[in-house]
Amino acid sequence: MKRRIDVKESFTAELTCACRVTSYYEKNPYLKSDDYVATKIIPPSKRLLVRSPFFKKLVASRGGSGIYEYIVCRTKYIDAIFQKLDDSFTQILIFGAGFDTRALRFQEKLKKATVYELDAPNTQNAKIEQYKKMHLAIPPNLKFIAIDFEKETLDQKLREAGFQANQRSLFLLEALTMYLDAPSVDSTFSIISAYAGTGSLIVFDYAYASAIRGESDYYLEKVDLKRAAKVGEPWKFGIEEGQLESFLAKYGFELVDQSDARALEKRFLTNQNGKQYGRVNAAQCLVTARKK
Ligand SMILES: C[S@@+](CC[C@H](N)C(=O)[O-])C[C@H]1O[C@@H](n2cnc3c(N)ncnc32)[C@H](O)[C@@H]1O
Repeated sequence: MKRRIDVKESFTAELTCACRVTSYYEKNPYLKSDDYVATKIIPPSKRLLVRSPFFKKLVASRGGSGIYEYIVCRTKYIDAIFQKLDDSFTQILIFGAGFDTRALRFQEKLKKATVYELDAPNTQNAKIEQYKKMHLAIPPNLKFIAIDFEKETLDQKLREAGFQANQRSLFLLEALTMYLDAPSVDSTFSIISAYAGTGSLIVFDYAYASAIRGESDYYLEKVDLKRAAKVGEPWKFGIEEGQLESFLAKYGFELVDQSDARALEKRFLTNQNGKQYGRVNAAQCLVTARKK
């Protein structure tokens, strides 16, 4: 099957960017996140759609119930990690960066670090073009690495870009693992493991293997796998429930936090009186782990 990323910018990267724009304009503070840069780089053709009340319904009907809420919580979860980073993190690597804008939004905090954004060339170029078009200055410490994780060698690309092994680094893989085949996930995590200094953090999300197999019928655990395949970005990789810690141990990481849908709802979407402002799709799970 032809992969969309070979011919065009990633559809799912645009979609997550669109969700972050909708979330930015939310009146409800539980659903609001702060990606003000996304509001500038969203393509003009989608600008009206993301402000329309139908957009969230469209995401639910096309992607899966609770997917929008999951993306909102994921944005807040990862932003909170960036907010807490200290100067001991000298390298920030954003894998499958898509329209991630943290290198700009956290520019001040990251000014002593080198930020590497790794992505398929068509998506990366589309984003750089949008930055230029909107006169958004690219921070001097941001380096772009064009790569296909399924076809190219990561360690060579990292070395060529000046990445230093054995430093304390943050590795972010937001909404990436499910789009890769298992050998590419393994080789990516193996390189990260070989290069990460002690105390480095890896933050990523993964799909449950059962969701990839399409086993669950509960609507909040379902994602539209057929549609994902139809747009040329099929879900391929998942981790079996209960197997996360052994997966991490294989790469020398220990679990710091695992937040499933229920944990995300509790942390981000529920007020002090227990009133909940949304349900999160339960097919995926967010993880923070530390290099031993
Ligand atoms: C769902 S988007 C997520 C984008 C971004 N991390 C975010 O959360 O907004 C998936 C990203 O993975 C990238 N990607 C998927 N398969 C890839 C591959 N084989 N090599 C490089 N990048 C890939 C796409 O280009 C896209 O930017």
